[in-house]
Amino acid sequence: MPEGGSASSRLDAAWAELYTQHQRLAGVHPVTLFERDPERFEHCSASAAGLLLDWSRQRIDAAALSALGALAEAAGVTEGIEAMFRGDAINVIEGRAVLHAALRQPAGAGIGGAAIEAQVLAERARMLAFAGSVRASGEFDDVVHLGIGGSDLGPAMALQALRHHATGGPRVRFAANVDGCALSDLLAEVDPRRTLFIVVSKTFTTQETLANARSARAWLVERLGEGAVPAHFAAVSVNGAAMDAFGIHPQRRFQMWDWVGGRYSLWSSVGVSLAIALGAARFGELLAGAHAMDQHFREAPWSRNLPVLMALLGVWNIDCERLPTLAVLPYDSRLARFPAFLQQLDMESNGKRVGLDGQPVGYGTAPVVWGEPGNEAQHSFFQMLHQGRPRAALDILIGLRSSCGREDHQELAIANALAQAEALLRGRRGEGVTPQQVQEGGRPLSLLVFDRLDPATLGALVALYEHKVFVQSRVWGINAFDQFGVELGKRIAGEVAEAMRQGDASAAVSPSLRGVLAHVRARRGAAP
Ligand code: F6P
Repeated sequence: MPEGGSASSRLDAAWAELYTQHQRLAGVHPVTLFERDPERFEHCSASAAGLLLDWSRQRIDAAALSALGALAEAAGVTEGIEAMFRGDAINVIEGRAVLHAALRQPAGAGIGGAAIEAQVLAERARMLAFAGSVRASGEFDDVVHLGIGGSDLGPAMALQALRHHATGGPRVRFAANVDGCALSDLLAEVDPRRTLFIVVSKTFTTQETLANARSARAWLVERLGEGAVPAHFAAVSVNGAAMDAFGIHPQRRFQMWDWVGGRYSLWSSVGVSLAIALGAARFGELLAGAHAMDQHFREAPWSRNLPVLMALLGVWNIDCERLPTLAVLPYDSRLARFPAFLQQLDMESNGKRVGLDGQPVGYGTAPVVWGEPGNEAQHSFFQMLHQGRPRAALDILIGLRSSCGREDHQELAIANALAQAEALLRGRRGEGVTPQQVQEGGRPLSLLVFDRLDPATLGALVALYEHKVFVQSRVWGINAFDQFGVELGKRIAGEVAEAMRQGDASAAVSPSLRGVLAHVRARRGAAP
């Protein structure tokens, strides 16, 4: 790579070199790469914070990887990492710092500066004291968490993943969807006298969450009277006035900050329901696992740095191999919601087409993330992964110990995961194999292996993907921390709801909306 020159010419040169490397490897089957380098597994794997990343089945070699490393350097990844941990306003579009890593720091780490650290530790202590009192008092049998998007997916995913650690506290469940069905199902099962509702919304303006929160409030008031609200509702938000208006007691409200995005907020008081389910010690282990990944991310050279490597392999697959989708396949069914969590993390962060400079980005950006527990998916969509025309990049997640104490079953799960990885690598061809039976192999996949799904491992896993997303945003020159794309739909939803109430759409709406609204009205009648 040429020395000197402008940052943008260095970046252009790094991209050009990357494409040259890709041309060189075009048509090379990954199996051949193992023949060229018998120690490929050792050269193409790295570990940190209890996770092993094995990218040996990707169609990449040392020279191509080093071109990716040069691209990361030219894109300012190293400076970006330091700026994030320092608390610089790296969300330049909104003028905000990005400090989810500060939320999981232990005392003395100083991430984001002394003032941020003090705020985080104080609010964490308040939240954990509250969670502890809810667990210890025996006052509640059920906790109902009401939120959506980043105010739901993280805690809901984590509680499902760590269900085997959630003992000794009330039952914690989640309702997010605006249709109210999840809420109705929960309300049918709980006793109002023994239920705590926690409304989680950074803005406290989100239509779905407020609809569910108001319905839950009305249900409670109908049974116990208005005076029961302060004792049966808690909330997490930056919006104190809205919490006042709702009637949230000052001691039952917890703070968020502008410098944490919803999809990065699991570690804050947004995780209060999780802390109630797990207890403070386990919740602390989750934070510690994430912090261990943060330290690794900050300190390890790019060639051993798991989030950087995963990000660069993703760039390779998206922009060179032209694979726009990433399937995430956990071989631990307790991680069933992990792909859904990653969908928001990755696609809401990097699903963008305009860069920080206001110009269209010349590369593919966020992958379409999808996935299911791997073993069950073998019996549904794996056929396409093996032989279909659209190809996907794959992350296969493997826990070495059972989450439910069934080691005999987990042994089979591991065997299945490794067998699939082998089949996807090697394929099937040769004598006696009919054309319909041929499998090309060479499907690009990485393995992520961990000892067992415990709070620390989950924390490290989530932080790994968070940082992967950040590194990719630096490489593509986009801002991972805004989400302007969702705003138009939110605004129109308000307008449509109003039009349904009034029975009259404004002249500004499209003819198709006007037509379907007339149909809705004819079939449903006026909105209640
Ligand atoms: O869907 C967009 C979004 O703004 C997400 O970014 C966010 O996590 C979610 O809505 C919920 O927002 P809030 O926490 O403000 O209710």
